Amino acid sequence: MERFHWLKVAVFICLFTVSGARELKLKQTDNVPIYNHTLATILVEYASAVYMSDLTELFTWTCSRCDDMTKGFEILELIVDVQHCLQAFVGIAKDLNAIVIAFRGTQEHSIQNWIEDLFWKQLDLNYPGMPDAMVHHGFYSAYHNTTIRPCVLNAVKRAKELYGDIPIMVTGHSMGGAMASFCALDLAVNFDGPCEVQLMTFGQPRIGNAAFASYFRKHVPNTIRVVHEHDMVPHLPPYYTYFPQKTYHHFPREVWLYNIGLDSLVYPVEKICDGSGEDPSCSRSVTGNSISDHLLYFGVELQAETWGSCRIVMLDQRVKNHSVTDLRGNFVLSRDPTNSAIKLNTEAGISRTSAL
Ligand SMILES: *[C@@H]1O[C@H](CO)[C@@H](O)[C@H](O)[C@H]1NC(C)=O
Ligand SMILES: *[C@@H]1O[C@H](CO)[C@@H](O)[C@H](O)[C@H]1NC(C)=O
Ligand SMILES: *[C@@H]1O[C@H](CO)[C@@H](O)[C@H](O)[C@H]1NC(C)=O
Repeated sequence: MERFHWLKVAVFICLFTVSGARELKLKQTDNVPIYNHTLATILVEYASAVYMSDLTELFTWTCSRCDDMTKGFEILELIVDVQHCLQAFVGIAKDLNAIVIAFRGTQEHSIQNWIEDLFWKQLDLNYPGMPDAMVHHGFYSAYHNTTIRPCVLNAVKRAKELYGDIPIMVTGHSMGGAMASFCALDLAVNFDGPCEVQLMTFGQPRIGNAAFASYFRKHVPNTIRVVHEHDMVPHLPPYYTYFPQKTYHHFPREVWLYNIGLDSLVYPVEKICDGSGEDPSCSRSVTGNSISDHLLYFGVELQAETWGSCRIVMLDQRVKNHSVTDLRGNFVLSRDPTNSAIKLNTEAGISRTSAL
């Protein structure tokens, strides 16, 4: 399979060089994600918007970051896990003809503390159903063991009922990138029915070992991990070249953004890295020592307006009747509140059990 594929690529390259045809494009096959710059600049705006704390503006897509390339987006479900300080949304991007799922990065601590803690994260959980695949339980649980997962799956199910089997694009920044990865894998492996999943994350940490990375690559081949310059987070938890079996290992494919040039002549480069996940000529060729590179991708700010709080701006009348709250205070804002996955008490007193 792999060999056959490379043969095809070789043939394409020959055709390209022999014919010199400028228009000839490599067709996207199952196991080579083609990086699309335009798509990256769109998805990064979703990854930025999900940090917004005014939930009314976010839900109605009128927030200051809900503009530009994402105009016209419709959120089906905005999920706020108050208990664990997590936020995510699922919606429809008509211009992409896709379901977009975005996860917010950590808001609980200062970013400095969160990054320092990353050094010490252990590979302490066997990913269910995948022998030898180890992950860090904290990243895993943030998606799998909170209100996030049932609500996301429920919203995806309803989106597919409404819009058919359109592609699903999953995105997130930082810790949100880790959650997006678990979500994409979950959809690819467990979703009942056809599911074309595409993952693009920004500045995400490593989340598992080499065995996990190789399962991941197989199940979610259409994956791009964007890394900006010296962003610290993708360097963590550390990769130890001398202990390949014991260490964390990124899944492919990295796209590394950096600048070349001198003084006033600077060219931005987007390097598409090799299929190993740990291409030594990409971000690993430099030291990960920058927090500011972590918080800015494609010129888009990836953090909340204020740090270190899980503060949310409560809802105004326009969206109140869309909200469903569970007993722990977690809630969703939903286009269709009566079909929410959360177990609840709505404002209207509707009480339902989880459909999942
Ligand atoms: C890249 O993505 C944009 C936005 O989805 C799309 O309009 C464009 O056709 C894509 N380009 C290629 C070469 O696939
Ligand atoms: C999930 O959460 C429950 C309760 O908070 C906890 O007891 C359990 O260990 C968690 N599971 C994982 C895999 O982290
Ligand atoms: C919520 O209330 C507004 C008016 O305040 C109404 O137009 C809308 O239909 C209501 N939505 C739901 C889901 O009940």
